[in-house]
Amino acid sequence: MKSVKIMLITMSAGVFLASSTSTAVQAQAAGAWNIPAKFKTTKNPVAVSKESVADGKDIYSKHCKSCHGVKGLGDGPKAGTIDVSCSDFSTKKFQSLTDGEIFFQITEGKGKMPAFKKLIPEDNSRWSIINYIRTMAAK
Ligand code: HEC
Repeated sequence: MKSVKIMLITMSAGVFLASSTSTAVQAQAAGAWNIPAKFKTTKNPVAVSKESVADGKDIYSKHCKSCHGVKGLGDGPKAGTIDVSCSDFSTKKFQSLTDGEIFFQITEGKGKMPAFKKLIPEDNSRWSIINYIRTMAAK
């Protein structure tokens, strides 16, 4: 009986620890991006072209649409299961980021946003996605 009690106490301490850890992770996820300054001026080496935009669209549909939505409004089917906003790529605020800054975000991820440096290892594929998400700006 005593050992059952100890086990229960140990288990609830575990649950407590697990829940306080996930709160810390959430707080971090909701914070700023901390994009290193040098990315502001990093140029996109992939010229905007029909091919690059089409390429970016294909990759976006496969890897990004489930959260960010068809038009980048942050309303993909997975977005509802995530406790932070998936942003809105049509806004001036988002579109005012430089290509280099967006490249950093896609490459490194943050919180619930996956890091794509290993999932999409070709740098130029990640640059082409940026050429595609520039077409999502509100008109
Ligand atoms: C599992 C869901 C998910 C997937 C898949 C995903 N993202 Fe995200 N993305 C997020 C979330 C959530 C955020 C907001 C993260 C935060 O601020 O903590 C985000 C943020 C971003 C941002 C920054 C937006 C801003 O306002 O600064 C960019 C850019 C971005 N994602 C691009 C992409 C691209 C490109 C892909 C595909 C290669 C992708 N994401 C795939 C969930 C996802």
